[in-house]
Amino acid sequence: MFTKNDKFVTSHLSQHSEWGIPMPNHKKNYVTAAKFMLHGGDYNPDQWLDRPDILEEDMKLMKLAHTNAFSVGIFAWSTLEPEEGVYHFEWLDKIFENIHSIGGRVILATPSGARPAWMSKKYPEVLRVNAARVKQLHGGRHNHCFTSEVYREKTQKINRLLAEKYGNHPALLMWHISNEYGGECHCETCQEAFREYLKIKYNHDLKTLNDSWWGPFWSHTISEWSQVESPSPIGESMVHGMNLDWRRFVTDQTISFYEHEIVPLRELTPTIPITTNFMADTRELIPFQGLDYSKFAKHLDVISWDAYPAWHNDWTTTADLASKVGFMNDLYRSLKQQPFLLMESTPSCVNWHDVNKSKRPGMHLLSSMQMIAHGSDSVLYFQWRKSRGSSEKFHGAVVDHDNSRENRVFKDVTQVGQTLEKLSGVIGTNRPAEVAVFYDWESNWAINDAQGFGVRTKLYPETVQKHYKAFWERDIPVDVITKEHDFSSYKLLIVPMLYLVSEKTISRFKEFVANGGTIVMTYISGLVNEHDLTYLGGWHKDLQEIFGIKPVETDTLYPSDQNSVTFRGTTYQLNDYATIIEVATATVEGIYEDDFYAQTPAVTSHQYQAGKAYYIGGRLEHAFQQAFYQDLIDELSLKPVFHVKHGEGVSVQVRQSPESDYIFIMNFTEEKQPIVFETIVRDLITGEAMEGELTLEKYEVRIVEKTNEV
Ligand code: GAL
Repeated sequence: MFTKNDKFVTSHLSQHSEWGIPMPNHKKNYVTAAKFMLHGGDYNPDQWLDRPDILEEDMKLMKLAHTNAFSVGIFAWSTLEPEEGVYHFEWLDKIFENIHSIGGRVILATPSGARPAWMSKKYPEVLRVNAARVKQLHGGRHNHCFTSEVYREKTQKINRLLAEKYGNHPALLMWHISNEYGGECHCETCQEAFREYLKIKYNHDLKTLNDSWWGPFWSHTISEWSQVESPSPIGESMVHGMNLDWRRFVTDQTISFYEHEIVPLRELTPTIPITTNFMADTRELIPFQGLDYSKFAKHLDVISWDAYPAWHNDWTTTADLASKVGFMNDLYRSLKQQPFLLMESTPSCVNWHDVNKSKRPGMHLLSSMQMIAHGSDSVLYFQWRKSRGSSEKFHGAVVDHDNSRENRVFKDVTQVGQTLEKLSGVIGTNRPAEVAVFYDWESNWAINDAQGFGVRTKLYPETVQKHYKAFWERDIPVDVITKEHDFSSYKLLIVPMLYLVSEKTISRFKEFVANGGTIVMTYISGLVNEHDLTYLGGWHKDLQEIFGIKPVETDTLYPSDQNSVTFRGTTYQLNDYATIIEVATATVEGIYEDDFYAQTPAVTSHQYQAGKAYYIGGRLEHAFQQAFYQDLIDELSLKPVFHVKHGEGVSVQVRQSPESDYIFIMNFTEEKQPIVFETIVRDLITGEAMEGELTLEKYEVRIVEKTNEV
């Protein structure tokens, strides 16, 4: 199923620049920033300028740790411009030279993630106002107004100077724009910008806005644009259409700020790729909810993200957490359908989980290789060296306060560096998939806003992750896509809990199935349109046509409520939700066992033109997903790229080029795991040929290559 065209051909792109960096002409896909696997991370020499001995030592340690790329200057604005218009670049010149002298590369950050105190004092408009309309004091980070002209101007100015100064430096590898954009500002300038955004969106027509926001509800009709105020705990928070528009505005305004930041960089350094680091929410890793990354992705050359899973925790298994990491990687990889970068991770522990536990022996290599397996072309850390003071002084780092090169963490990092050096063939390769799981930021916002269902049981991202997991467990590659993507070429499209869906997307689903695709949809899907207004007259007629059913009521259950569904002869436990289904032309595949809807349809299938549509009415235990998808896997002949026989908790993920498959076999369990290969492969690290039976130690990863006939 792999075709030559699927590969992001690094050799072609490398014609354009010294580092294999594609020319950012916004028409091509970008691959990766370099011809080598990046290994390194956030380096904050600005905290150590009065310790030249330490800065010198850093260079020795960087070489010893087999690191090669460093994000510099992320929060360095007060060092770069200690007074307004007074610039100090000498220290950064030296850092560039130092890193260059050891053959390393600089990922140069723009400093807008935190600003110097003089700026907040002189231009208070840069300070953020929170939703309760309280203007924030100077301090912290990631807390500026994205609309402020002053902040935009100051940012662009310093970015221009950085580009002028370092744009031609041979060590410059890529741009790291700001840091983890997030949050929102509710100041008067932002209110005005929001009103302007709405005027454009609603064609300067207040009636259209009021219709979309269901104005007469609680007398919320607006008669002048100036009456619009962003959502607030001391004001309006119940107008769902407005909440949704506000979140869209925040995404657009953040992107607009970012676009403003990069003007001088595109102008002066057109061949240097640009990224900004995306995030995940919570220790359990669900997509960051504050911004719609599916929109943001289009503005970046390379996606990068910061991954901090809580390994070895006491609430979930290692394998379960690993499947969530897999999901996040496949989502961020799919955003641009190309390799991404792991911009931050910890070599040991973090400082912001409830319990900041160290990675156990083996976990650092395993978790780092998992990122590569799913499409990363880097392992980068926060942070290179532990700071001496302030809140991150106990956050894991490559170099600890003892400066040791003998400690466990430094050795673990070195091992990752040595391993990455053997993976040059993997760079730029992708993971073609026949299965897509659908994720939508807007739908997540809307369902979380919905006052209905269970407050603690909506769990949209977690539900999508559970469906993904059924494929992860079987080593079948999955793209996690959004409505921005073309999904016509997938065999199977899984759409769990898509509460908000526009008519446009519904008609794309219809076309997909009509043309032979298989779709799976679940309870709480297709209830509201893009304004968060419910569909009238029952489920959308196109959905009824595709699925041959009409969901008529969704029952929300207490945790102690018991129900179950019998599907193809086996009974599975049901929790939280059960949708009662009226069948028109569909086939009943499963029935509810209990309550007033006992013996009524719970799972259905329907042939619609050339394709098939399945509907799952209840939230069922994982064994159901396993059985249900196993049948579909067989029916659609979905296969792992490379077959390894193994037990639960072992994951086999593959990156492919026309010449080779790079296979990562990972043991995410605390036990030894027997595995069996059916083909001869070559271990990329040891060089040995492997076939037959083998045992993986606890947390062991093996990386093997299978050469393809081209
Ligand atoms: C990230 C952030 C870094 C550092 C890290 C700690 O979210 O970008 O600057 O604070 O968390 O885990």
